[in-house]
Amino acid sequence: MGIKNSKLLSLTKFKRPANSNNSNNSNNSPPIKKIFNDDFKFIDGRRYHNVENIHYFLPNDDQEIDRLQLQHYMMRYIWHSNFSSPVRDLLNEGGVHVLDVGCGPATWILEMASEFPKCEFTGVDVVPVMPLTIKPKNTKFIEANVLKGLPFPNDHFSFTYTRFLNCAIPSSNWTTHVIPELIRVTKPGGYVEIMEWDIEIYNPGPLGRRLTDALVKNVKSHNIDDKLPEKLVSYLQDSRNLRNINHEFRDSPIGKQGGKIGTLALDNSIYAFKCCETKFSVEFGMTLEEYNAHFEHYAKEVDEFKSQVRTHRFWAEKI
Ligand SMILES: C[S@@+](CC[C@H](N)C(=O)[O-])C[C@H]1O[C@@H](n2cnc3c(N)ncnc32)[C@H](O)[C@@H]1O
Repeated sequence: MGIKNSKLLSLTKFKRPANSNNSNNSNNSPPIKKIFNDDFKFIDGRRYHNVENIHYFLPNDDQEIDRLQLQHYMMRYIWHSNFSSPVRDLLNEGGVHVLDVGCGPATWILEMASEFPKCEFTGVDVVPVMPLTIKPKNTKFIEANVLKGLPFPNDHFSFTYTRFLNCAIPSSNWTTHVIPELIRVTKPGGYVEIMEWDIEIYNPGPLGRRLTDALVKNVKSHNIDDKLPEKLVSYLQDSRNLRNINHEFRDSPIGKQGGKIGTLALDNSIYAFKCCETKFSVEFGMTLEEYNAHFEHYAKEVDEFKSQVRTHRFWAEKI
């Protein structure tokens, strides 16, 4: 895929869509309404991507964007940083390009771009959910599908990052498309970093178990690998052109047992399970009200069982 096949989104051309497909194209910019109609579909009051052959099953409306932002701050707190690759000095020095693939609402990019004002940041997502009204000058956003190839030349970025893309990528495509593309666009000496969750909750109670099992079943039905983090190191080792392969993980508590961060983790997991409420309530033989009423019990259960979530970072240098 070349640049000509992607849509370069800019402040003047595109405003973040509201929670409906109602839009007014008040200037002479390209047909925004058409973009909305093409890019989004609405199911049970939630907005989803409308891109053919994309396996991503989570919504992309304001509610989900709020969840992703909450999740970003959780991650930064848990990891005490926005990345693990040894690129801080390089980014402080500036003059280099950084890429975030599957950037979503671009919270990571916006923060990084403010912290490292001498670098250029590019965010790519298959749907235009990036906030474009207020953004640092050193950022740009491109609508593109990583499974069709990234619209950048070889050896372009000094740091190529992706976070929580697993729910979008069929298992075999990690080694056939995603990892090769991340490596291709990275400069020799530059770093590739991947951050992922374990879909499993650790020490779940009975309800946590049931919800996680439903989630695992759901991701498998989309041909997504529920055990990806276990495999990523070997995928990176099998890739040509990488060295210094690193992996770290962090466990963090869900619920009041974990203080403020645990409460955020609880909210995040409830929002995530609520994204699947239509499907899961049917599967559990419940009404939506009954399904949602369960979360009060879930909030107590995670404390009782000391439930935890695990996140991973993988990073490697391109040869
Ligand atoms: C769980 S969100 C993570 C967003 C962001 N990385 C973060 O950490 O907040 C996954 C993102 O990947 C995007 N995505 C899904 N399939 C994609 C594809 N094939 N190419 C590019 N982006 C994709 C989705 O639109 C969504 O914004």
